[in-house]
Amino acid sequence: EKGNYRHYMQKEIFEQPIVVAQTLQSYVRPFEGKIALPDIDLDLAGVNRVTIVACGTSFYAGMVAKYWIEQFARVPVDIDVASEFRYRDPVMEDGGLALFISQSGETADTLAALAYAKEQKQVIAAVINVPTSTMAREADIVLPTHAGPEIGVASTKAFTCQLAVLAAFAANLARAKGKMSEEEEADLVAHLREVPETLNQALDHDEDIASMAHLVAPARDVLYLGRGQDYPLAMEGALKLKEISYIHAEGYASGEMKHGPIALIDDKVPVIVLAPSGPLFEKTVSNMQEVAARGGKIILISDAKGIAEAGEGCMATIEMPEAHPLIQPIVYAVPVQLLAYHVAVAKGTDVDQPRNLAKSVTVE
Ligand code: M6R
Repeated sequence: EKGNYRHYMQKEIFEQPIVVAQTLQSYVRPFEGKIALPDIDLDLAGVNRVTIVACGTSFYAGMVAKYWIEQFARVPVDIDVASEFRYRDPVMEDGGLALFISQSGETADTLAALAYAKEQKQVIAAVINVPTSTMAREADIVLPTHAGPEIGVASTKAFTCQLAVLAAFAANLARAKGKMSEEEEADLVAHLREVPETLNQALDHDEDIASMAHLVAPARDVLYLGRGQDYPLAMEGALKLKEISYIHAEGYASGEMKHGPIALIDDKVPVIVLAPSGPLFEKTVSNMQEVAARGGKIILISDAKGIAEAGEGCMATIEMPEAHPLIQPIVYAVPVQLLAYHVAVAKGTDVDQPRNLAKSVTVE
C-alpha cells in the first residue's frame, strides 16, 4: 500500500497536491469564481463569534484559521485546545458558532468540548476527515476534508486539507459579512486553483531538504520561529519534529524570542525561521538576526525575494513559491513536514509508529 514510498508519512506528504485538490473541489466553483460550503443550511451573516477547539495538529490548523477569520471576515475568534477549553467554563453567547477540527473525529477531549458547546446552544460545525466518525454525527454542520485515510501517526495531509477547508470557510464568512467583494472572491478562487501546483513546487525541494537533515539530526533542541499566521506553522513544525525524531523542539512567535527563549541559543541550536516576504518580513528578519548574533544556526524558509534579502549568513535556505496569504500556510506546511521526516529517517526512528503515541487519542 505504500507503493514506492518508504513510509506512510512520506506517501501522505506526497499525496497532498491531489488530496488538497480533491478537498477544494467541494468548496470551490471555479467557473463561477465562487466559494461555496457544501450543503449548508446556515446563514453565516448571523454569526458574530467563532470559537475554535481542537487538539495537536488540528489545533494549529485552527490557529491559522483564527488569523484568517479575523483578518478577512472581521469576526472575533476564541481558540483553545480541547483539554483546556472544557475545564475553564468558557462564556459562549447566543449567535456563536463553535468550530471543531479533527482528522479522526474520535478525539475524546474534542468530543467532550463539543458536548459542552452544544449545551451552551452554539451552532456546531466540524471539519472532519472521517465522515463516519462520532464527531461527524454530533455536529450540526460537517465541513469534510477529503484527505483519505491517514495512517502515519504524524498528521500531514489531514492538516493541509484542514487548512484548505478553513480558508474556504473564512472566505465564505467574509463574503456573508460583506467584508470580501465578488472580485476578491474570484481572485481567491483563482489562487486556490493554483494550490496543487504550488504544493508540487514545494515538494520539489524534497532532496534539498533531505540533504539538510544532518544539520538538524544531531541537535538536542531546535527552535521554530514564525510571526502572524506563520506562528502556528512554527508550532506545527516543532510538533512534527518532536513526534517522530524525539528531538526537543519548540515553536515560538518570533517576537517572543527576546522575552526568554533566546537564552537557549548557542551554536548547537538550529533555528528554523518561517518568513515569507510581506508586511511581517522585516520584523521576523530582525528577530532572526538577534538569533544569528548569538551563534544560532538558521534555516530560513522564505520565497525568492525573502531569501535574496535575508538568506546570507543562514546555515541553509529553502525557497518556497510566493502565495496569497490564504494559501501560504498550506504551502509552508510542506517543508516543515519534509524536514521532520528526513531528520527522523536520519535518526532511524520508527517514523509511522513513533513511541508512546496513538493515531487517535480516545481517552481524556
Ligand atoms: O484526530 P484529531 O485531528 O482530533 O487528532 C488530534 C491530535 O491528536 C493529532 O493532531 C496529533 O497531535 C498528531 N499526532 C499530530 O501529528
